[in-house]
Amino acid sequence: MKDKRVLSGMRPTGPLHLGHLHGVLDNWLRLQEQYQCFYFVADWHALTTEYESPKRIPTFSKELLLEWLTVGLNPEKSIIFIQSAIKEHAELYLLFAMFTPVSWLERNPTYKDMIQNLQHKDLATYGFLGYPVLQAADILIYKAHHVPVGVDQLPHLELTREIARRFNFLYQQEVFPLPEPLLSKVAKVPGLDGRKMSKSYGNAIFLTDDEDTIRQKIQTMVTDTQRPRKSDPGDPENRCVAFQLMRLYSSPEELAEIVAECKAARLGCVACKKCLAEKVVSALKPLWERRSQIEAQPHLFEEIIISGNEKARSFARQTLEEAKEVLFGTKWY
Ligand code: TRP
Ligand code: SF4
Repeated sequence: MKDKRVLSGMRPTGPLHLGHLHGVLDNWLRLQEQYQCFYFVADWHALTTEYESPKRIPTFSKELLLEWLTVGLNPEKSIIFIQSAIKEHAELYLLFAMFTPVSWLERNPTYKDMIQNLQHKDLATYGFLGYPVLQAADILIYKAHHVPVGVDQLPHLELTREIARRFNFLYQQEVFPLPEPLLSKVAKVPGLDGRKMSKSYGNAIFLTDDEDTIRQKIQTMVTDTQRPRKSDPGDPENRCVAFQLMRLYSSPEELAEIVAECKAARLGCVACKKCLAEKVVSALKPLWERRSQIEAQPHLFEEIIISGNEKARSFARQTLEEAKEVLFGTKWY
């Protein structure tokens, strides 16, 4: 039944927050019920921008895997692994590099954006230019049909398709299916200040924050700024950031009541945000419990990763052998 494959990855660059949980992982959890899913830690991709301080990457990778298991990615259903443990990605990347025109890489809008946004880093490297070629290898080595990604990643997906097309055309065999992006509707999670939740904006609630930190952070959350006093009627749906977060944690009935009470100037923001904080805390509690269970069994955690790596490796090896045979026209290599 699960004959279609889904693949996605995340760079290990720091702790996960509610934006990752509702914007990405909730979707991954849904997909693992319907597809054969491959989810991996893109640690080589992290290295393209973090090459000056690479020692942090393994720590972040481990943490990321732990958080994935914490939120419910299930190693019985999905293949969960670490990119750098599967050397086959690197070999396929090398083969792809031979026929990928440099102009395709230079005109990639995500590449230009990132160079712009990360001006404090020297990204005029060969590795960074080749980022999407490595990403194409990640995707194509599992012959993925669908790749859940955000819109920022669409140019990379398009490049992956072009690389697949070029390989199939040059060597006259349909080795690689053309992967489709999966732009599922995902929750937009506002940060404390109303901008998109992001670690670099300092407006995030992390999955590892403790209860009191969460309560404190939510009390600082921006509400309807045109409502300085409780006696002023509010407009939660259009003007309140806290309410946007409330939407993710409340039933339609609860939301209707908040809207009514806020508009009638009967509900104050402090009380409202207290209620929100309790909802967030109770939603995260089961995650914290699962996390401490996993942490209490380090061997089990290790086994999960080893076994995920092995499953991924055996799939990757087959594709790589097939690709090389088609390319060189002999099995000798
Ligand atoms: N570039 C992706 C990001 O920054 C991470 C990534 C690497 C990825 N390889 C991938 C995502 C393959 C999907 C498929 O988010
Ligand atoms: Fe927002 Fe709640 Fe304050 Fe209304 S009462 S403005 S919904 S925080």
